[in-house]
Amino acid sequence: EWTIENFIDMEVENIKAKVGDRKVLCALSGGVDSSVVAALIHKAIGDQLTCIFVDHGLLRKNEADDVMKVFADDFQMNIIKVDAQDRFLSKLKGVDDPEKKRKIIGNEFIYVFDDEAAKLKDIDFLAQGTLYTDIIESGTETAQTIKSHHNVGGLPEDMQFELIEPLNTLFKDEVRELGTQLGLPDRIVWRQPFPGPGLAIRVLGEVTEEKLEIVRESDAILREEIAAAGLDRDIWQYFTVLPNIRSVGVMGDARTYDYTIGIRAVTSIDGMTSDWARIPWDVLEKVSTRIVNDVAHINRVVYDITSKPPATIEWE
Ligand code: XMP
Repeated sequence: EWTIENFIDMEVENIKAKVGDRKVLCALSGGVDSSVVAALIHKAIGDQLTCIFVDHGLLRKNEADDVMKVFADDFQMNIIKVDAQDRFLSKLKGVDDPEKKRKIIGNEFIYVFDDEAAKLKDIDFLAQGTLYTDIIESGTETAQTIKSHHNVGGLPEDMQFELIEPLNTLFKDEVRELGTQLGLPDRIVWRQPFPGPGLAIRVLGEVTEEKLEIVRESDAILREEIAAAGLDRDIWQYFTVLPNIRSVGVMGDARTYDYTIGIRAVTSIDGMTSDWARIPWDVLEKVSTRIVNDVAHINRVVYDITSKPPATIEWE
């Protein structure tokens, strides 16, 4: 009989048998799949697992600390946090094309990861959170990343890893159930999708630290109010974007000329198509008031009411 408990027992045995007394490396992003794969492998082999968590400076407010709290403090895993904010920001300087931004971030991620991996000794395996759906829809991110690790990163020949992909028979809902069973908190298990390039594609045009801060702070307010309204599981994704426009406003008796923040919130089954979420107006009002009052350089808040298609979920 297939149950999550049986699956865990079986996979723990499989992983132990496969790894023996050797070592496993895992790229942990804090997303559902990599978190669950790390927790499962840690259950099987404990300290023989090392995770690398790259903080590219494009994460949401408190995200890096939260990931470290869960995995380093609560789970007591071997986890290396790489503070690569400056590296990513300097590479992004002056770049405003969305696809160029994506490419730079993707490549830099691999360089950073490989630099760290190369410092570790005697790693034989690389754990990946590949799901069943990643395999059948060939060409998805997880399948590609690992290939490019070896091609782009310039690892020496003798540092080729063998892959471990214990989630590759599971669907997303089973992965969440597994995560809960392994003791991961709801905020990880039920985390909304977050793109690899992070906030860089929510700051439209050139990315600067000041603009990242505006998105980070406004996004944190939105997330707080969505959670307070009990809507966080009903909405597929909800976030703020900073379009590259300023408009006139009035604060007290002074004229302002500041940035506009866009709120994007969508319902969806798989991210392929989506509808804009009908967030109650009083919730939107609260979010708008808080953002304008608390986030510097914002004097206007707009709500994106386009579905996908014709729009995409992200603005870049
Ligand atoms: P779009 O904007 O294309 O997004 O409607 C569909 C889903 O994919 C996510 N997304 C990305 N995820 N790297 C990722 O890992 C990316 O470059 C990327 N671009 C979009 C988006 O958040 C949504 O869930």
